[in-house]
Amino acid sequence: MGFTVNPLSPVLAAEVTGLDLSQPLGENLVAAIRQTWLEAGGLLVFPGQTLTTEQHIRFSESFGPLFGAEGQPPLQESVSKYLHPDHPEIYRVSNKMENGQPKGREGAGTYWHSDVSFRQTPPAASILHAIEIPETGGDTMFCNMTAAYEALSDTMKEIIAPLRAQHDFAQTAATQFAKHNVIDDDLHGANRAVHPVVRTHPDTGKKCLYVNPGMTTHLEGFHANESRALLDLLFAHATRPEFIYRHRYRQGDVVMWDNRSLMHYAIADYADQPRYMERTTGIGDRPV
Ligand code: SIN
Repeated sequence: MGFTVNPLSPVLAAEVTGLDLSQPLGENLVAAIRQTWLEAGGLLVFPGQTLTTEQHIRFSESFGPLFGAEGQPPLQESVSKYLHPDHPEIYRVSNKMENGQPKGREGAGTYWHSDVSFRQTPPAASILHAIEIPETGGDTMFCNMTAAYEALSDTMKEIIAPLRAQHDFAQTAATQFAKHNVIDDDLHGANRAVHPVVRTHPDTGKKCLYVNPGMTTHLEGFHANESRALLDLLFAHATRPEFIYRHRYRQGDVVMWDNRSLMHYAIADYADQPRYMERTTGIGDRPV
């Protein structure tokens, strides 16, 4: 089974057609998809997929272990009520109700972030299946943190090369979660990590910025105002339009992004039009 690749943007995305992800793919095909993903800049879209939840999980597991899988850590306690009731590998993002309860996390990720960057071993791939999409709106933006790093001046690259930043769920909770949705244990260190500001991608060997507005609290060794100014500068730089691809979903899209080299932002502009996505989150390496 071969496949066709069409670039969606010069910055970071390509569409892959000719594959049915509901079928087992085999080692060679998985390796070819992984290579295409890295070469495309970290985002692949597989349109028109009809997958059961089990098939989505099987496809995702071919790229590595998943948060929530048997023997692996859960994604995070505070989002446990948004996991699929039968499949803890699946994080549900939705504004719909089911049996009088939210069917998923409403308004997840409506800020620039890299998924759960506050974990010690934050994710590599997240893989989202667009099951129900609004007629208009509900796009996700992605920005390329490798391109953003490379576009910095040599002087700025030297300044940030040795820096380390703290990432903490407490920041996300304070700015993005209603208080009743936060489990206290998540606020006391289990979801806090210090990572290099510039990480080397374990597969491509390229350097990427690894800080994000939703989860990075501060740069180590700086006064608070210095840290804020430098982080804000990096965030404004990384989210310049030339580093961004905005994905308009079609029902059945499977979107696979690389959290090591991209940030993303889910746009909450669709009011009460129903939107339902299922996402797996792959466990990555400790950033270096
Ligand atoms: C997320 O994974 O951060 C949410 C993505 C989306 O709903 O578009």
